Amino acid sequence: MRKTIVAIICGGRSSEHEISCLSAGGVLAGLDTERFEAILIGITKAGNWVQLPSNYPLSIINGVLPIVDESLTPIIADVHGFSVDGKPMKFDVVFPTLHGPYGEDGTIQGFFETAGISYVGSGVMASAAAMDKSFSKTVFAAAGMNVASGVVVTSSNWKSKSADLVYPVFVKPARGGSSRGTHKVKSESELEDALKDAFTFDRKVMIEVAVVGREIECAVLEKDGEVMASIVGEIVIDSKYEFYDFEAKYLDDATTVNVPANIPAAASEEIRAKAVQAFKALGCSGLARVDFFYSEKGVVVINEINTMPGFTATSMYPKLMAASGVDYTTLITALIVTALTRSNGVLGN
Ligand SMILES: Nc1ncnc2c1ncn2[C@@H]1O[C@H](COP(=O)(O)OP(=O)(O)O)[C@@H](O)[C@H]1O
Ligand SMILES: [Mg+2]
Repeated sequence: MRKTIVAIICGGRSSEHEISCLSAGGVLAGLDTERFEAILIGITKAGNWVQLPSNYPLSIINGVLPIVDESLTPIIADVHGFSVDGKPMKFDVVFPTLHGPYGEDGTIQGFFETAGISYVGSGVMASAAAMDKSFSKTVFAAAGMNVASGVVVTSSNWKSKSADLVYPVFVKPARGGSSRGTHKVKSESELEDALKDAFTFDRKVMIEVAVVGREIECAVLEKDGEVMASIVGEIVIDSKYEFYDFEAKYLDDATTVNVPANIPAAASEEIRAKAVQAFKALGCSGLARVDFFYSEKGVVVINEINTMPGFTATSMYPKLMAASGVDYTTLITALIVTALTRSNGVLGN
């Protein structure tokens, strides 16, 4: 039997370019080589598509993160697929290990749909709605889930909309990621500066009540036509950080992960059920990591959903799945099989 050819696409224009390369390296190493064969496609920071040799470095080497080199052989990506030097590249399915804008927000998914390319993960609508927290929150609230209350503001209306806030609040770009532009604001006097910074990332910014509690994550996987939730894990942030900011996420090893999270069984079951509910409410496909707060008072609050979460073998999503009995290679196979059997990508499930 011919092996299924998987085009792993990584890099991209978002601030998570390097993390995306690491995720791709993980998938490449974890692929079941009895069934699959991989080709590697890179998107440079400038947005150019290039061919990556199969031995392209996609791991941290001497403390340096991988990036997609601008000088590699260009790929033409159009509605007929991908080609190099006028020759079409053969593949069956795309695994876009792309995080953040232009990778996880429905734009590249729209291109795949237009070109008739099968791909791993959520379709256009679910990807876009998940990327914009102001939309996904509305969907979660409509499905009966607790969300942090707040307002969505722009640079022209924030003064009037923030008149009645009770501090502390969180200020964050609606379509942000990696905690960039996110601030914990303790009093009105700090609000303007926080907003100014958030507006450099997005013209739409959320101001939310600060939830006091623990951060719990759940991995959701569509496997053999069923949507399953992993056991839940907790992100434990060193007390020197006010919240799970960029440094705590990437620059410091002060953040630890507890799998399973040490919370009451009833809370963990509630989170698992809500993770699946959120996945379905948004019309997600394949995979998503759903992030929650478990408040001091024991209330489960949904925070956000990530449709292409960090995907190295040691990232939270694969870790949660492994702890739930789905090892990394089985997980990758399930995602590829789901992608190949799906036909209604644009509209979601
Ligand atoms: N309403 C909130 N209450 C408490 N903490 C928050 C709130 N919103 C965001 N945070 C903190 O900021 C971090 C990043 O915010 P999040 O909404 O998850 O955006 P990102 O997409 O950047 O991960 C969260 O992990 C959490 O530590
Ligand atoms: Mg987050």
